[in-house]
Amino acid sequence: MHKEISWRSTLIGAVGMLMIMATIALVVILTGSYNVAADERHTTPVEWALSTSMENSVRARAENVQPPPTFTSTMISAGGAEYKAMCQHCHGGVGAAKEEWVKGMRPQPPALASAAKEWQPAEIFWLVKHGVKATAMPSFGDTHEDATIWNIVAFVKAMPSMSAEQYAAYAAESGSHSEEGEGAAHSH
Ligand code: HEC
Repeated sequence: MHKEISWRSTLIGAVGMLMIMATIALVVILTGSYNVAADERHTTPVEWALSTSMENSVRARAENVQPPPTFTSTMISAGGAEYKAMCQHCHGGVGAAKEEWVKGMRPQPPALASAAKEWQPAEIFWLVKHGVKATAMPSFGDTHEDATIWNIVAFVKAMPSMSAEQYAAYAAESGSHSEEGEGAAHSH
């Protein structure tokens, strides 16, 4: 009998706690009290929640992505041109700085010359194809074929072991960037 009562009160306590938390969350959402300004840091718990969600979401979804068996030098060099045209301004390169205005972004685009080590090729593919919601990271899947995205992945994975001279030697794609891949087969 006594045991049953303590069980019940624990349950009531837990439900009450959840209701209080949901009410607080709703008040924060409806009153606009959370500052969305990009020039102010997130609070530590929000930053943790966002970055952990992003990481786990990408890792879980990339499990179904099958990378090509090897990255050839042709792929790396084709990817270099794409990278310099579409990624360098936000992520920088080896010995190539990000654009000045990137400082105003939150979250900050990491320097891929080192951050690329922490991601598997399939995860980088997924990130480039689908992008990251509510960040400046765009999805390139609608405008670029999977083969082009794999070239970019090949280049990004090669960056951590590149010297600034090697990086600079890759040709930048000239002026008009071709937007291929419209209506091409998409894999997820
Ligand atoms: C307009 C700026 C912008 C452009 C252009 C851009 N990115 Fe990003 N990228 C971001 C931001 C911001 C993040 C951080 C997202 C986050 O932390 O949730 C990011 C994250 C990433 C990540 C995950 C890195 C990490 O450690 O969190 C990869 C990989 C990546 N981008 C690759 C690319 C590639 C490759 C390209 C070019 C095809 C590209 N990005 C173009 C802004 C950009």
